[in-house]
Amino acid sequence: QPARAVDLVEEESGAPGEEQRRWEEARLGAASLKFGARDAASQEPKYQLVLEEEETIEFVRATQLQGDEEPAAPPPSTQAQQKESIQAVRRSLPVFPFREELLAAIADHQVLIIEGETGSGKTTQIPQYLFEEGYTKKGMKIACTQPRRVAAMSVAARVAREMGVKLGNEVGYSIRFEDCTSERTVLRYMTDGMLLREFLSEPDLASYSVVMVDEAHERTLHTDILFGLIKDVARFRPELKVLVASATLDTARFSTFFDDAPVFRIPGRRFPVDIFYTKAPEADYLEACVVSVLQIHVTQPPGDVLVFLTGQEEIEAACEMLQDRCRRLGSKIRELLVLPIYANLPSDMQARIFQPTPPGARKVVVATNIAETSLTIEGIIYVLDPGFCKQKSYNPRTGMESLTVTPCSKASANQRAGRAGRVAAGKCFRLYTAWAYQHELEETTVPEIQRTSLGNVVLLLKSLGIHDLMHFDFLDPPPYETLLLALEQLYALGALNHLGELTTSGRKMAELPVDPMLSKMVLASEKYSCSEEILTVAAMLSVNNSIFYRPKDKVVHADNARVNFFLPGGDHLVLLNVYTQWAESGYSSQWCYENFVQFRSMRRARDVREQLEGLLERVEVGLSSCQGDYIRVRKAITAGYFYHTARLTRSGYRTVKQQQTVFIHPNSSLFEEQPRWLLYHELVLTTKEFMRQVLEIESSWLLEVAPHYYKAKELEDPHAKKMPKKIGKTREELG
Ligand code: CDP
Ligand code: MG
Repeated sequence: QPARAVDLVEEESGAPGEEQRRWEEARLGAASLKFGARDAASQEPKYQLVLEEEETIEFVRATQLQGDEEPAAPPPSTQAQQKESIQAVRRSLPVFPFREELLAAIADHQVLIIEGETGSGKTTQIPQYLFEEGYTKKGMKIACTQPRRVAAMSVAARVAREMGVKLGNEVGYSIRFEDCTSERTVLRYMTDGMLLREFLSEPDLASYSVVMVDEAHERTLHTDILFGLIKDVARFRPELKVLVASATLDTARFSTFFDDAPVFRIPGRRFPVDIFYTKAPEADYLEACVVSVLQIHVTQPPGDVLVFLTGQEEIEAACEMLQDRCRRLGSKIRELLVLPIYANLPSDMQARIFQPTPPGARKVVVATNIAETSLTIEGIIYVLDPGFCKQKSYNPRTGMESLTVTPCSKASANQRAGRAGRVAAGKCFRLYTAWAYQHELEETTVPEIQRTSLGNVVLLLKSLGIHDLMHFDFLDPPPYETLLLALEQLYALGALNHLGELTTSGRKMAELPVDPMLSKMVLASEKYSCSEEILTVAAMLSVNNSIFYRPKDKVVHADNARVNFFLPGGDHLVLLNVYTQWAESGYSSQWCYENFVQFRSMRRARDVREQLEGLLERVEVGLSSCQGDYIRVRKAITAGYFYHTARLTRSGYRTVKQQQTVFIHPNSSLFEEQPRWLLYHELVLTTKEFMRQVLEIESSWLLEVAPHYYKAKELEDPHAKKMPKKIGKTREELG
């Protein structure tokens, strides 16, 4: 079993196998390849053999994140903490000595910006202080927003434990498709997107006494929109308290935006962190991560490790590789507990990362950006940072949105490093060169509002009666073209009329907590009498890319199982097929296991489906089934996604309107078939612009579902009529 599969394949055969290369390409970002290749000219030897079969990566120590002059005594160790009362732990947090001062400042000012190091207790403590101070009297509620669902869930669970109440009673959380609150819930942790939706039912947030916009530095689209709306509400609700909490940096911006609101700083405690860089760039950062973790495990004193990767697939792959190597090394190394954490991880698994490490063992938490500032895991001494994150990017010229693995910003890299210095002096290993850090990383991350499509948010704002979007109070305005395109798309979907006013159909679309295109698809299922099937497709699309399970040692079986679900027509029908068969099995976990389907994802799809079904009445769609006539299902999908269409040309797939080159993802059931016309659910940019979840369509359907958007002429098929050879030749000659 070679340690570096890809390299070895190259050495042996000159080129990696086609199949393997496809998987590798799909997995590794183009950015990573570029990033890795940056100063490949360097002659430094890349690896050195130290452990018998494992290779090592050489790091050089470069800089140090300064700690405090005299670091305060470290907080009690995790084990001791367990024994101490939870109240003592609360009192040990950096925010605690400032409790009275903070409450006084909140009483004195309507808007307060709160800045404090990650882990100082902002998220878990401040809402509790407000609760203790009586801000929830007379049934008033406190909202605390989080950009990430995992954070909302885990923080609410923690606070419920601290308050000694059952989660969902006094303390609860509310995230999309999952509401863990009740009438009694006065401390509401929620995603920023959920608070945005609250405006729909309660435009002045009248039942809230305090709104805390947490993790403001993340600058997610929803947080940014909240700023504008809350600032407005605060003007005519002088008794509403607004708190804006942020890890570091940029608090001046928030202060200025909120009419020079005061900034309250919670001094953090921080130990120095030594920063190490690789001598040479790493081409495969996933592999490099695995090697480095083992290296840390074997060479470094006790202390847990935190690894930053970009998403679920990567994290699962890394965990699997790590476990695999540990098994092979057996008793040669001490016990290594490998724990993943990412957005879709079920809550019982999430809780495991907070459990104390058993004596003698070492814990490795493999996380997404979530662990950068949203979650604090005790006991981390080592941070491993490959320097990437998954980011949405949007091209307002073409209207194409894609998820891309990109180098993170310097600000991000330093936040990550900071995670190593919370309990003691720590070390951060960066899997890139010091040169790359200096010259290639952006200072800060561009706010999401400037790199995403705005269809969703524009629809929401329109539903709130905000018509003049150009003059909305944005902290940073989105590009003009992006706004315009959102309006145009909503018009094409029939959500807005030609005056830019919300239509009846638009009002219904806003009712569903999903993207406008998905909403439109659900609405269209009424016309095509297939809402049962469309609900399933919508639910399965919402769980996204984590349906099939592909363990390394059973790749062939897993792929066969997947192919067995294929239905002519494309991936949406495959998803429908998987769900239907699972439902027929009585929603069995055994069935999932046998068919290499992720039970957890399916369970979630079932939840989402139920929620959407519950909303059908509100949008006046009745339950109906296509009775096996999948054309109807495909047409309903087309009615929502006619914007995302591509056709096969001589030079591969091109998007219909923008003529962008795109590719079918190798995972797709249509990868081999290459139908002439198709629609895709989303684009993912890795090595290429891949279409994920594709469906074969007929061009005539586009005229049927979107006659205002497509003209018959542009849907004419150049392949249908043979091009005169002469012209072809002349063109070539000219070329
Ligand atoms: O928001 P901020 O980063 O300032 O800190 P926090 O999230 O309120 O965390 C305060 C403390 O609570 C930290 O010591 C965390 O380790 C702990 N915590 C926890 O044990 N479990 C959670 N789910 C969240 C926080
Ligand atoms: Mg926090």
